[in-house]
Amino acid sequence: MNLYVTIGGIWLLIYLAHVVAILAFTNTDDFAALTALKSSWDNLPPNWNGPDPCVLNWEGVICTNSRVTSLKLNGMGISGSQFGDLASLTELEFLDLSNNLGLKGTLPSSIGELKNLTVLMLIGCSFFGPIPTTIGSLKQLTYISLSSNNFTGLIPPSIGNLSKLSWLDLSDNQLNGPIPVNPGMDSLGNARHFHFSNNQLSGSIPPELFGPNMKLIHVMFDNNRLVGNIPPDIGNVKSLEVVRLDRNLLNGEVPEILNSLGNITDLYLANNKLLGQIPNLTGMPVLSYVDMSNNTFEESDVPSWFTSLQSLTTLVMENTQLIGEIPVNFFSLPHLEKVVLSNNKLSGTLDIGSSDNTNLTVDLSSNSITNVSTKAYKIKLSLLNNPVCPGGESSGVKYCTAEKDNSYIILNSCTLTSCSSDRVLSPKCSCSHPYTGNLWFFSSSFLDLGDSSYHNVLEQSLLSAFKGLPVDSVNVSHPSVDINSHIQYQLQIFPSGKESFNRTEIAILGFLLNRQNFSLPSFGPFLFIENSYCCFSDGVTGAKKSSNTGAIVGASVGCVLFILLLCVGIYAFRQRRSAKRESDKNNPFLLWDSYKGNGAVPQLKGAKWFSFEELRNITNNFSESHCIGSGGYGKVYKGTLTSGEVVAIKRAQQGSMQGAAEFRTEIELLSRIHHKNVVSLVGFCYEQGEQMLVYEFIHNGTLGESLSGKSGIKLGWSSRLKVALDAARGLLYLHELANPPIIHRDIKSNNILLDDQLNAKVADFGLSKLLGDTGKGYVTTQVKGTLVSI
Ligand SMILES: *[C@@H]1O[C@H](CO)[C@@H](O)[C@H](O)[C@H]1NC(C)=O
Ligand SMILES: *[C@@H]1O[C@H](CO)[C@@H](O)[C@H](O)[C@H]1NC(C)=O
Ligand SMILES: *[C@@H]1O[C@H](CO)[C@@H](O)[C@H](O)[C@H]1NC(C)=O
Ligand SMILES: *[C@@H]1O[C@H](CO)[C@@H](O)[C@H](O)[C@H]1NC(C)=O
Repeated sequence: MNLYVTIGGIWLLIYLAHVVAILAFTNTDDFAALTALKSSWDNLPPNWNGPDPCVLNWEGVICTNSRVTSLKLNGMGISGSQFGDLASLTELEFLDLSNNLGLKGTLPSSIGELKNLTVLMLIGCSFFGPIPTTIGSLKQLTYISLSSNNFTGLIPPSIGNLSKLSWLDLSDNQLNGPIPVNPGMDSLGNARHFHFSNNQLSGSIPPELFGPNMKLIHVMFDNNRLVGNIPPDIGNVKSLEVVRLDRNLLNGEVPEILNSLGNITDLYLANNKLLGQIPNLTGMPVLSYVDMSNNTFEESDVPSWFTSLQSLTTLVMENTQLIGEIPVNFFSLPHLEKVVLSNNKLSGTLDIGSSDNTNLTVDLSSNSITNVSTKAYKIKLSLLNNPVCPGGESSGVKYCTAEKDNSYIILNSCTLTSCSSDRVLSPKCSCSHPYTGNLWFFSSSFLDLGDSSYHNVLEQSLLSAFKGLPVDSVNVSHPSVDINSHIQYQLQIFPSGKESFNRTEIAILGFLLNRQNFSLPSFGPFLFIENSYCCFSDGVTGAKKSSNTGAIVGASVGCVLFILLLCVGIYAFRQRRSAKRESDKNNPFLLWDSYKGNGAVPQLKGAKWFSFEELRNITNNFSESHCIGSGGYGKVYKGTLTSGEVVAIKRAQQGSMQGAAEFRTEIELLSRIHHKNVVSLVGFCYEQGEQMLVYEFIHNGTLGESLSGKSGIKLGWSSRLKVALDAARGLLYLHELANPPIIHRDIKSNNILLDDQLNAKVADFGLSKLLGDTGKGYVTTQVKGTLVSI
């Protein structure tokens, strides 16, 4: 009698707690997608283990309201040959897989299902094949970079559907075909950045690209195969700041209207076949970098804008048919640093006046200059191959030697000079493992690599962009200009207060760098391509602890009054590290296919495959001494896995086996259930005509046994209340948070198990029914117990 009163009271509490409790566990579809990734990609973070990505903070994963909204996995050394089942992360907003050179494969069309994506970064991986048309369905995107992969084929016109897009970077691939417009890129009215450097795009530049609704600031199509004119429509886009059309096959005259683009700072038109007059740039007051080398302009005197552009730092006009003399006041432009006018027909006397700009380098080699009149000996000047240097380099005259690039040496003031064991000395004199890589700039407002002030600005700007992260210092070094006029630097980022960064920090650093939400004076946008990081700090805290205390052992016996029973066992420690992919043996996907032959791969969320052999060994050939219960379904055995974990094995007997499809469904269902108040599935065996489910083993048996005094455990009232709340939480999870929802239908004291700390766990889903299952509404095992109508 007493027993029934107690159970009644527990029921009331269960009901109340059910109403109150609020929990936030990972959505099961998201969990499935991440688990599928785990089985197809290598080198995912070691803490991608345990039952819940959102609650356990898997590295690189961020959740909002139990949905995965951000996956930032830059630079983790991940490899895999498929894009993975990412498309089911339908709430994803940020996806960054950059700098994982081991990631290959094509982008599947299903990427179009990530409807909430705002940032897509796949920089510096090894993806190949065409960019899927479905990319046009990602309507929320504001930033895409697929830079530095091996994408081929056309730019899909559907990209024009991305009306919110601001940053579009497809540079450094092998894309070909025309620039798509109408439909296409002309409808990207919010785009600020078109970065298409280093591809094989062909055809002419469509005038629609510069329609009156465009707000572009950076247009970079350098190093492609574009032909035809620069369309005069470019004059519509007054916002333009950086224009790179160099290294194509453009011809025709440069449209005069270019001169009306007053915001341009960097203009690259070099290495084309442009004709006519050297363009008039007088209308560009902030222009600092000009390169129009190697075009076929008409012969002309030095244009007047040479002396009027007060912001000019860099003028590169190699091989542009300039004739006559350079006006003396050109050399006193206040910011001038680098002038390359080699291979022209400049003649007469070179008068540099009294400029004593020590930062100025002037290359006038291969011209027709006959005389020099200067007192400005501080300028670095080369007149090699001019009549004024008849003896060439051997003449010993300083300005008759070839121009050498400036360089600088930075001395640190550390007392240490080197560090032991691969560590690197930081600018602040500590030894650690920096995160390193190359910064590859699409454009810059200077070319003088010898000027350390740019370099300092770069370091300071990056350091402040990393504010809030444990970054001690930033070092940029080894500047160089590549064959396509892109400046590169080597970058080192040093950790502060420790020897190395953890994966999360590397992912964030990479994301910040490539997202470029910060300003870099004098530098244009860039790509960050890392050198793979040597030494992630092992961020998995507490993993060791669990191996001592974790193995929670218990007993569980079913079979009291009712028909069905079950016993379930426990193992409570999450197997974080020991789960060290026990090779293919633990790949149920492979095995399943070979059994089923119909390709229906089960979506297993952490459940392991066990061989019949293994389970037979640990139960002493399913001996009676290991049997801890029996019922209509079959018997339940206790066993200890080689890892030390104790499990309860539920073995179906002949006659109560399910069809393969039903068995798969049941495993899929059970393996989704992860909650501390619900008994969880450890794995299964489906081999040699056997169907077995392996559960965690629960030490203290059923609640029924404790209440009846049978187990020797005395439950005080506060313990009973806790048991009721625990059970309620478990049920709440099953009813409301599991997807699909599960109605237990047979909750009773014998289906509530107690672990060694008297935490209650709901057990026996042998009678579970899926909610919302259209059609027949299946029952996962033999139908027995309390039916509820739903
Ligand atoms: C996207 O663009 C293509 C062609 O530009 C068009 O046919 C298609 O209907 C658009 N799709 C959506 C979903 O708007
Ligand atoms: C260059 O353009 C400016 C206007 O920006 C104009 O005043 C000047 O006359 C032009 N020079 C030549 C040589 O056409
Ligand atoms: C101009 O062309 C020559 C010969 O192809 C090349 O060596 C030089 O680098 C080019 N100059 C520029 C500034 O691109
Ligand atoms: C990585 O470091 C950050 C601090 O920068 C810390 O918040 C985070 O917990 C660490 N991650 C792991 C898995 O230890």
